[in-house]
Amino acid sequence: MKALSPLLAVLAIVGFAVVGGHTHAGLVFLAVFVPYAAFAVFLVGFCYRVARWAWIPVPFRIPTTCGQQKSLPWIKPASLDNPSTGWGAFRRMALEILLFRSLFRNNRARLHDRRLVLGEDRYLWLGALAFHWSLLVILLRHLRLFVQPVPVFVSVLSRLDGAFQVGTPALYISDVVILGTLVYLTARRFRNPLARYLSMPIDYLALFLLLGIVTSGLLMRFVVRVDVAAIKQFALGLAVFRPVVTSAITPIFLVHLLLVSALAAYFPFSKLMHMGGVFLSPTRNLANNNRSKRHVNPWNHPVKTHSYAEWEDEFRDKLKTANLPLEAEDARQITGH
Ligand code: HEM
Repeated sequence: MKALSPLLAVLAIVGFAVVGGHTHAGLVFLAVFVPYAAFAVFLVGFCYRVARWAWIPVPFRIPTTCGQQKSLPWIKPASLDNPSTGWGAFRRMALEILLFRSLFRNNRARLHDRRLVLGEDRYLWLGALAFHWSLLVILLRHLRLFVQPVPVFVSVLSRLDGAFQVGTPALYISDVVILGTLVYLTARRFRNPLARYLSMPIDYLALFLLLGIVTSGLLMRFVVRVDVAAIKQFALGLAVFRPVVTSAITPIFLVHLLLVSALAAYFPFSKLMHMGGVFLSPTRNLANNNRSKRHVNPWNHPVKTHSYAEWEDEFRDKLKTANLPLEAEDARQITGH
């Protein structure tokens, strides 16, 4: 039931695209106005949220640590799990962003013979990693629609991605992987009782939007063929703010474009913002040097203090009379200050 409202929302977008594109005004609205508006919301929203995170002061080091911190020379520190230098924190971040290292160490708790057993669970890691990498490859390959001449690395990437040529047009590896992983990630939310319980309706929205985008893309490539050259003309027009609505904008392309627009507009308000947030997470991007360096809270307001030495000066006579030790005076005699 939780998945019903996001499913209906995605189907409504598909319906708009199919029905709304029949008139010229509708076509201009859906193919030009909506993508521009969505892209503007994405850009402003993304920058706003990243800027807000960046502006939040982080006066102390609060990295999550999972290993021995640097201490005495003969105790081996865990330089990745408890980085004490900027370089160590950089390496940890790189492994997190490129290989999802913390997800790799994901555990699954199960009851076995009435005992709690912790086991490894690598499927989620593999699914998430394969999904993100294939999405990146697809987005980079799409550059051929927006840039003229097509950059060399995009052509090379497309050739590598289509290396297992199965029929014509070539079936991209990234297409197979993204479809498989999206189906797995969605099925996991339905089948795993814990994930199902924890999932909110909004958790399904991004998955359904992505499934819709990938399915319509594959349909365009293999079933309801579109004039890619004409779509490139349209996309280039959009990119330089001189859009021309042509007959290349077929209902299936409009479905693809509208779902992409919906995802872009929704992005800044969603958990998908982890794309920008991961770089700004102080629990990850800081080195743990709390003990080796003094970090002073910049918000400390000046406080009037009364040191022990001052107190001793104030009551010296009385302390001397009572034969009590005078530590500050002794210290001054030793150090000569
Ligand atoms: C989140 C963004 C997007 C995703 C995930 C996505 C995904 C896909 C996928 C998986 C395909 C199947 C074939 C392939 O991999 O090349 C495809 C095809 C296609 N997409 Fe997208 N797409 C996105 C954005 C766009 C945008 C903004 C346009 C607008 C110009 C577009 C236009 C097309 C076209 C024309 C095809 C057919 C290509 C062909 O037949 O070779 N896509 N898309």
